[in-house]
Amino acid sequence: MARGQQEKHLISRRQIFGTVWGISLAALLGQFGSALFEYLKPRIPAGGFGSKVTAGLAKEFKPNTVSYVQSGRFYISCLPDGGLLALWQRCTHLGCAVPWRKDKKLFICPCHGSVFTPKGEVVSGPAPRPLDLFPIQIIGGEVIVDTSQPIRRDKFDISQVTRV
Ligand code: FES
Repeated sequence: MARGQQEKHLISRRQIFGTVWGISLAALLGQFGSALFEYLKPRIPAGGFGSKVTAGLAKEFKPNTVSYVQSGRFYISCLPDGGLLALWQRCTHLGCAVPWRKDKKLFICPCHGSVFTPKGEVVSGPAPRPLDLFPIQIIGGEVIVDTSQPIRRDKFDISQVTRV
């Protein structure tokens, strides 16, 4: 074989190896990128805070009661007429978790003392606005609360109440 033909074969082989190496590297980087994305993306457990949470059967919520749903970090407040509100436990002042005080029938923030009614309205500050709400759907008799969509409000309005 002439020397010129050998060089053509060599160049051709180099090109093939280079192409195969390039494709392998691209595939490896693609897999690495995909794995990194999966590792870094926020994990929202199905049925937990940040997703739709089943609070229970609608008929289980009795008028004038407040029930805490830990997995969703909210309260179901059942108003005197049976209407439901899903109140985020997060204080609208600086974000502390606000416990329900059954003895006083009020939410009282342990951090700076804001007080809220069972509708989430501010009785006394420093909280600047009512507790945020989450949308409620009643599906098959179950109360489903979408904790991915907090609703900020300036005051209580009857249109915020979900009827069973
Ligand atoms: S965080 Fe609740 S009153 Fe300040």
